Amino acid sequence: MCGIVGYVGDKESAPILVSGLKKLEYRGYDSAGVAVVGRNQLNVVRATGKLRNLENRVVAEPPAGTIGIGHTRWATHGRPSDENAHPHAYRGVAVVHNGIIENHLALKEELGGSGHVFSSETDSEVFAHLIADEQERGLELKDAVRAAVARVRGTYALAVVCAQDPSRIVCTKDASPMVLGLSVGQNFLASDVPALLEHTRDFVYMEEGDLAVLTAEKVEIFDREGRPANRPTRRIDWTPVMAEKGGHKHFMHKEIHEQPRAVADTIRGRVLLSEGDVHLEGFGFTPEQVRAITKVTVVACGTSYHAGLAGKLMIESLARIPVEVELASEFRYRDPIVEPTHLCVAISQSGETADTLAAIKEARARGALAMSICNVIGSAITRETAFSLITNAGPEIGVASTKAFTTQLVALYLLGVKLGRLRGRLTVREAQRRLTHLTEIPKLMEAVLRSEGAVKRIAQAFQAAQGFLFLGRGPMHSVAMEGALKLKEISYIHAEGYAGGEMKHGPIALIDDKLPVVVIAPRDPQIAYEKILGNIEEVRTRGGKVIAVLEEGDEQVRKLADHAIVVPPAPALLAPVVATVPLQMLAYHVADLRGNDVDQPRNLAKSVTVE
Ligand code: F6R
Repeated sequence: MCGIVGYVGDKESAPILVSGLKKLEYRGYDSAGVAVVGRNQLNVVRATGKLRNLENRVVAEPPAGTIGIGHTRWATHGRPSDENAHPHAYRGVAVVHNGIIENHLALKEELGGSGHVFSSETDSEVFAHLIADEQERGLELKDAVRAAVARVRGTYALAVVCAQDPSRIVCTKDASPMVLGLSVGQNFLASDVPALLEHTRDFVYMEEGDLAVLTAEKVEIFDREGRPANRPTRRIDWTPVMAEKGGHKHFMHKEIHEQPRAVADTIRGRVLLSEGDVHLEGFGFTPEQVRAITKVTVVACGTSYHAGLAGKLMIESLARIPVEVELASEFRYRDPIVEPTHLCVAISQSGETADTLAAIKEARARGALAMSICNVIGSAITRETAFSLITNAGPEIGVASTKAFTTQLVALYLLGVKLGRLRGRLTVREAQRRLTHLTEIPKLMEAVLRSEGAVKRIAQAFQAAQGFLFLGRGPMHSVAMEGALKLKEISYIHAEGYAGGEMKHGPIALIDDKLPVVVIAPRDPQIAYEKILGNIEEVRTRGGKVIAVLEEGDEQVRKLADHAIVVPPAPALLAPVVATVPLQMLAYHVADLRGNDVDQPRNLAKSVTVE
């Protein structure tokens, strides 16, 4: 959850580290720090709160040196404070750590017994002590790090500098992300690519257990057994601007508006219209394997889980395979029925979510075919699955997921068509029709984005509401759930997303003249239009305020609703991609009007790499 950067070269490292941390602040943001080595001296600067507090300190008293490491923290062990902020230093060794040391209490006790005094409440500080001890026993930094890591049980991405050896950074990882950025005369490390895009496009993704030694001239990588390892260098095409706000007030706003592009990029090169087929790079399942699939199980968390719920309808309809959608955190802790004829699909924006990673490992271990839908190439979940369908959303910085969700929906649709074709459930002509619909979606999303003014006015009218109810049927049920999640996580207003048909079974009791009810009401008989009209009447009768997401030209719903958000018509299975956009905008504007920190909502982190 924390963000790590490291630099070694011929430039002053502190400004490079702080600027890299800014791009990673989304990963954790309760405190931050840097450790710079200059003239055989370690300078550590740390500050609680937002990164600008650290930046102010660094500007006031710049720590000099051309090698350093930095960290932005999301607390797991020990409250946010200057002492608990990383880097942690001990006898000239400074460390930054992302992950959890499960046996830290036992290690602290043992080290305490031999005279070590700890200056923080964190588990991470243990690493600095262990490494310093190993160095004092005569090991060079690389071997000291290796020895320290061997004593630890848990997860880590760890970077280390030391005053006695100001030429190198040693880093290692297991189950927490770490990339290396390569350049000429300087090298970098970070938790994620955006931190380094202004310096390089050439990245190496470290594998589990890898250890790397970075100097200004070269990067050496060793595998878990200490053997030199040759990891491929990947060129990443994201521009630095793609990782910046690009003139928007918040990343979330920018990312909402990027969706037509993100969806188009996810479709690009994959739709083979003339053949009525889908090309998925790396799709290695044989037609026999696909024909033998008896069930698809989707495992995911949060917004990605909601994408899975919409994906269920797509795959069932397009490929006629039964689909189960499971919360990854539940799946991994029960005794799920998994057969070799099951296809398990992990959906994750980050590709690092601990529960989803564990769930897909579990499914694989039980013999299922495993694939993932991820936004981050080279992430842990993509490495765990034989095939990854990458959503080309680009980096998603806002904590609330937006473009990742709509691109996941599109990826699921592509998967549905692919499976449908391979299983002979879709004719060429039918696949062509479905794929044509898909290629029209970016334009429809652009039209929805143009209605932002109307959405903002609705946000102004309801910014002080105490609660919201979202209703939708069929594919729009998952949209209602996603709309409610978006609103609650950034506006802190309680919201529920319900299937329209369930309203009478409980939530109807909530309705009074203070409750705004967002009804997603496309005029499509397949989405039970008549029934959703009934829901609107039931809300009105009880004084509830109806905000309807309705189709262009639908005068019936417009007359019934107190407020209308107009969207263009879309085929039922793809309608969620379009209808989600105004709900994202609604959540965004309500949160912004309430003065909330939209991109970094309280208590949340972008990438949940712990349970
Ligand atoms: C909500 C949100 C979270 C994530 C969830 C899974 O806006 O962002 O609910 O969807 O933590 O994250 P990924 O998709 O990275 O596995």
